[in-house]
Amino acid sequence: MIKTVVFILVISAVIVALGSGIHLYKVSQKNKHEMSKYTLSVRPNAKTGRTLVVYFSLGGHTKAVAEKIAEYTKGDLYEITTAEKIELNTAFYVKARHQLYSKQYPALSGKMPDFSKYDTIFVGGPVWWYAPATPLLAFLEKADFKSKKVVPFSTQGSNYGSFFVDFERMAKNAKLRPSASFNNISDKYAREQNNKIISWINSIR
Ligand SMILES: Cc1cc2nc3c(=O)[nH]c(=O)nc-3n(C[C@H](O)[C@H](O)[C@H](O)COP(=O)(O)O)c2cc1C
Repeated sequence: MIKTVVFILVISAVIVALGSGIHLYKVSQKNKHEMSKYTLSVRPNAKTGRTLVVYFSLGGHTKAVAEKIAEYTKGDLYEITTAEKIELNTAFYVKARHQLYSKQYPALSGKMPDFSKYDTIFVGGPVWWYAPATPLLAFLEKADFKSKKVVPFSTQGSNYGSFFVDFERMAKNAKLRPSASFNNISDKYAREQNNKIISWINSIR
């Protein structure tokens, strides 16, 4: 009996390891293919006028993209912050899922930015459970973009799910411009990732 249980456990572990190995391989191949389109250097030529870059970031990936956008647009940065500090642990994944399904988003701290000073507002955050991170949803719930140009962006492991559909539904009175999503990618593609950010920014009117 014990032998059968151990056998089943070992087989299950092998299947899980194989499955995640195949998934990681597929993601790395997809990233490699995408980055191959951005090998040529691009000069920044933003035409976004007075620009604000709003972002939420828990682990720093979205922050890094937001800082690049601010650099290439000469824009201001605004970080979305939560009233309660978020500890990223296993329990938090369950909590985030509950917040999404119950639509009970975390309370934010700090004043909302004054959109009237800007022509273009980039707004980005991480993907949580195939949707915008709940602090970003809390921000969108409070914001009225008053016909400003709004440019959504996401960062994710590999799958942004309904991030942009949800974003569009939530962004009140936004004139949406082309969005972009950025997979967390190995540093060896830093130059290509940078070119991707610049090409996207240059395309926004
Ligand atoms: C609660 C939680 C759920 C996540 N869900 C997804 C997901 O559905 N798809 C995905 O590709 N990445 C997912 N991720 C990974 C993050 O989207 C990714 O690491 C993101 O770049 C983190 O951004 P940050 O470092 O700015 O917080 C999830 C991360 C967390 C913490």
